Amino acid sequence: MNVLITGGAGFIGCHVVRLFVEKYPEYRIFNLDKLTYSGNLENVKDLEDSPNYTFIKGDISDLEFVREIFEKHKFDKVIHLAAESHVDRSISDPLIFVKTNVMGTATLLQVAKESWKGNYENKLFYHVSTDEVYGSLELGGDFFYETTPYDPRSPYSASKASSDHMVRAWGHTYKMPIILSNCSNNYGANQFPEKLIPLFINNIVNGKSLPVYGEGINVRDWLWVEDHARAIDVIFHNGKHYETYNIGGHNEWKNIDLIKVLCKLVDAKIGNEPGTSEKLITFVKDRAGHDLRYAIDASKLENELGWTPSLQFEEGLSKTIDWYLENKEWLDSVTSGAYLDYYTKQYESSES
Ligand code: NAD
Ligand code: DAU
Repeated sequence: MNVLITGGAGFIGCHVVRLFVEKYPEYRIFNLDKLTYSGNLENVKDLEDSPNYTFIKGDISDLEFVREIFEKHKFDKVIHLAAESHVDRSISDPLIFVKTNVMGTATLLQVAKESWKGNYENKLFYHVSTDEVYGSLELGGDFFYETTPYDPRSPYSASKASSDHMVRAWGHTYKMPIILSNCSNNYGANQFPEKLIPLFINNIVNGKSLPVYGEGINVRDWLWVEDHARAIDVIFHNGKHYETYNIGGHNEWKNIDLIKVLCKLVDAKIGNEPGTSEKLITFVKDRAGHDLRYAIDASKLENELGWTPSLQFEEGLSKTIDWYLENKEWLDSVTSGAYLDYYTKQYESSES
């Protein structure tokens, strides 16, 4: 089976690619990634010599290029993660989110449809999406269910909602086998340090201020990235076609509480006096349109497919901090942008 995974040089994608390459030596795994600022081949360097792994550099919204690689590699199944993923960037620069997340997804769907020519035996288009498509919840209120009406409120979540609709439209209209999953906030190794947890670890280590948006009362539901990858594996293999699965950790944290735990854990690990890093907390102007609370009900996935998160949050957070402390070179290279020059030159075009 030839499996195309898009966005495999990014944060979640690298964990999915690694899990599939290592667990399924009988599959041929193709990692298609444009290597934007958040894509980094260091994240999958350990897989370079695996016989069942191929990296392809390219853009999911480039129709001719996507046609070429489908023609060449005859992909049977697609796991689609490539996207512009950061909400703040979508507020300052929304159009690239429309191009990549909407047009890119539609391009992949259309080429998969052309390539599969209506013969859908053993074919699947699995789309990885976000809980942000459901909008925002009241504090202490209900959860997001698979049936919750869509109410995206940022350019990022609107582009992801649009891509979800595209996937369902190709499934409904052309009967292409599709599955979607919508996941809550991930944390763990290899996350680009623009997102809350790696940004704040990096700032604590460097004694820089910790910019808390608004009053820090917004709530997010955090899941360890390797548990997300495990969920994708379970859904890819056992999920029902045309269904959607919510993925989440039942692990809600108010930002300010999470940040204080993070400060305490990092202080202890780097030998700071207790309370040192909390002094770096700075309340700043709120994010425009900042969603108040996300919280996933993942009981469909748990009851029907038997998946549950494997790690308690404090353990996961501790492992995550250790990873960033042990991988200072990775952190320095992505904050300086050095990796971009290196890999852009090495993979000027197409395949390895
Ligand atoms: P990321 O930004 O770390 O990685 C995205 C990857 O996509 C990068 O490697 C980038 O180079 C690649 N990419 C971007 N544009 C591309 C294009 N035009 N063509 C080919 N590749 C391109 O993002 P992430 O956090 O790993 O998110 C991966 C997916 O999971 C996204 O679809 C995101 O919406 C979804 N998701 C993320 C979270 C989260 O908490 N991070 C939660 C739920 C769902
Ligand atoms: O819910 C899933 C989504 O989670 C994914 O679809 C997105 O790709 C991912 O980026 C993430 O979105 P968030 O906006 O929730 O994540 P972020 O890490 O940017 O912010 C988490 C919370 O922390 C949010 O309430 C905003 C706040 N925040 C963030 C940053 C970067 C701050 O207070 N200060 C900051 O500097």
